Amino acid sequence: MAVAFKKVETPEEMETIAQIAEPIWHATYDTLTSRAATDYMIEQFQSVPAIRRQLAQEGYVYYLMLLEGEAAGFIGLVPHKEGKMFLSKLYVAERYRGMGLPRAAFDFIAELCTLEGLDKIYLTVNKRNRHAIDVYKHFGFYEIDAVVTDIGCGYVMDDYILQKDVCGPKTED
Ligand SMILES: CC(C)(COP(=O)(O)OP(=O)(O)OC[C@H]1O[C@@H](n2cnc3c(N)ncnc32)[C@H](O)[C@@H]1OP(=O)(O)O)[C@@H](O)C(=O)NCCC(=O)NCCS
Repeated sequence: MAVAFKKVETPEEMETIAQIAEPIWHATYDTLTSRAATDYMIEQFQSVPAIRRQLAQEGYVYYLMLLEGEAAGFIGLVPHKEGKMFLSKLYVAERYRGMGLPRAAFDFIAELCTLEGLDKIYLTVNKRNRHAIDVYKHFGFYEIDAVVTDIGCGYVMDDYILQKDVCGPKTED
């Protein structure tokens, strides 16, 4: 199935991201952290005000992934962070899992890397998020480091940093 990528620009699209994200965050993180910690992280990182701030001030770009016109998931990227493409978010709504969206997302991100002249993608992933880690490794990511990030209010994120090499920009002979 063909996946279309729509750059997030309007308040309605930001709202759609937040709506897709909330149940996924709870399903993914409540058992890895706690429901209160997940609520806190959503408020900090994936609420409409947080998305607006990321787009306006933090160099983010978000894309909705559309499957036959339906919003099935999204990616959040920070191009040129530490000289690489930072993949901040890859979220697929539960009923669209197993349909090839991550592969479409990584093909799309590789194209963006080529356009931006970036040859590496990196991301952070919770050390206990086994499925996501398996998926990332399947697509060629490897561990480069680990990081514990204090996100305030007594909460920390305990993550691996994974990286993937992508082809550099095409050169003209
Ligand atoms: C992580 C997530 C995006 C993956 O999407 P998905 O649709 O569930 O992915 P799939 O299970 O279809 O797997 C994608 C690919 O990885 C492969 N894969 C899945 N599990 C694997 C495993 N245990 N070992 C090796 N490969 C695996 C699949 O075969 C598939 O490969 P293909 O495209 O070559 O056929 C999705 O589960 C999600 O949104 N999870 C919640 C949010 C989250 O944790 N995001 C990451 C935060 S850092």
